[in-house]
Amino acid sequence: MRASVTAHRDYVIADIDNRIYGAFLEHLGRAIYTGIYEPDHPTADKNGMRGDVAQLVRDLNVPMVRYPGGNFVSAYNWEDGIGPKENRPTRLDLAWHTSESNQVGIHEFADWCDTVGTDMMLAVNLGSRGLEEARNFVEYVNGPTGSYWGDLRRQNGRAEPWDVKLWCLGNEMDGPWQIGHKTAEEYGRLAGETAKALRAFDKSLELIVCGSSHSNMPTYPEWERVVLEHTYESVDHISLHMYSSNHDKHTPNYLAHNVKLETYISTVASTIDYVKAKTRSKRNVTISFDEWNVWYHSHKQDRAILDGKHGWPHAPALLEDIYNFEDVLQVACCLNTFIRKSDVVKLACIAQLVNVIAPIMTEPGGGAWKQTTYYPFYFASLFGRGRALNLLVNSPVYESSLAGDVPYLDVSGVENEAEGTLTFFLVNRSGDEPLEVDLSLQGYTDARVVDHQLMVHEDLNAVNSAANPDNVRPQTGSGAKAEGGSLTVSLPPHSYQMVRLSVSKG
Ligand code: AHR
Repeated sequence: MRASVTAHRDYVIADIDNRIYGAFLEHLGRAIYTGIYEPDHPTADKNGMRGDVAQLVRDLNVPMVRYPGGNFVSAYNWEDGIGPKENRPTRLDLAWHTSESNQVGIHEFADWCDTVGTDMMLAVNLGSRGLEEARNFVEYVNGPTGSYWGDLRRQNGRAEPWDVKLWCLGNEMDGPWQIGHKTAEEYGRLAGETAKALRAFDKSLELIVCGSSHSNMPTYPEWERVVLEHTYESVDHISLHMYSSNHDKHTPNYLAHNVKLETYISTVASTIDYVKAKTRSKRNVTISFDEWNVWYHSHKQDRAILDGKHGWPHAPALLEDIYNFEDVLQVACCLNTFIRKSDVVKLACIAQLVNVIAPIMTEPGGGAWKQTTYYPFYFASLFGRGRALNLLVNSPVYESSLAGDVPYLDVSGVENEAEGTLTFFLVNRSGDEPLEVDLSLQGYTDARVVDHQLMVHEDLNAVNSAANPDNVRPQTGSGAKAEGGSLTVSLPPHSYQMVRLSVSKG
């Protein structure tokens, strides 16, 4: 099969906001305890944070990490996680039917973010709590000393405000599973009033209001319309979530998920435009896709804990999906979508970062290892920064029941002007045939391949593990040729590639 792609230096979608390569850490399973935090671990620092995990996170160059939930935040008292550790209460976590020791709270998380070189994106509890607690939390984190909450923060060891800009107004409030679930009207009113109070404290905060938990939600997309009508003037982003799964073991449908993702984003972008017009606003609200990933491998094994059959365990192994090679293709396609939608998606978080549906796994007391999906995220985060190109793609298609016609080729292109590079991320969705791709490079000269990474495996179900961490990993690609204003590259069946070119403009 053959596909052709045209890249023109003036056909640009948008400057990519680097924050589309964000991640998420929730007090859930072993994400925090024996994930990032394990005081007895041989690599632990003075704060009890694992050095091996911190290094893997640093390598991903994640711009911000969303915290502390997720479903967890909707019944969380942030005050439980401050002050001397020995005085912190153990609470029952209603979202995941576990115990929360509160040994990690906002101070420990903030220090960890400093260590790994990332910013915080914090969520307030608008489930079991409301405006007052949200306001107090924001003042505790960002307020000046000389006021009640700022002084308390200083007493707990931190005088300087953290100056966190990104604040999520609750989590998945459209979901009936959420503690304190609300109708769109109820939530819209509460989020609007909370946003007003937070803005009265600091106009420069970036506020994120909850959109849909999935495009399959019965309330979608009406939820977005109603919530935005209540909040349009006081928020900056609307949050969307979506997880992909291959329960029915149908790879062509599975790999069509990002086509559905793209439609989801476009629909919400249109809803934003509708509300903007209706409210006669000058403001541009954009999308924060702050939970996305593959999530299904662990569903069965999690049931007993979620049903409470084990009581209230502390940090059990929950949502520990072990990703296979097929999931590499899926994650790569989703990242391509975020690049292609970078005009409206300004924030995104892979959910999650460590142990819980995560690219990084740990053994308590042992090593940390990379899942298969670590790699496409790594390449996009490191090399997918710059301007997203509006590629003209001509690819053969297949029909899927999930999303109609789906091109075999999924591709995104990023120009980094400062570095003088063009980077293409390519996936061949076909499991039967290789795809010969001709990329015409218009307005660029002197193209030279400087990096070519290939991920391919004879077994779609191949996984990595602590014992065999390199079973699925990238290899140096070969055969990509940049000549006479074009790039030719051959994609083996079911493969992912990154091709980077150094270019001049001409
Ligand atoms: O990331 C796991 C869970 O998925 C989050 O807690 C919740 O927001 C979503 O349903």
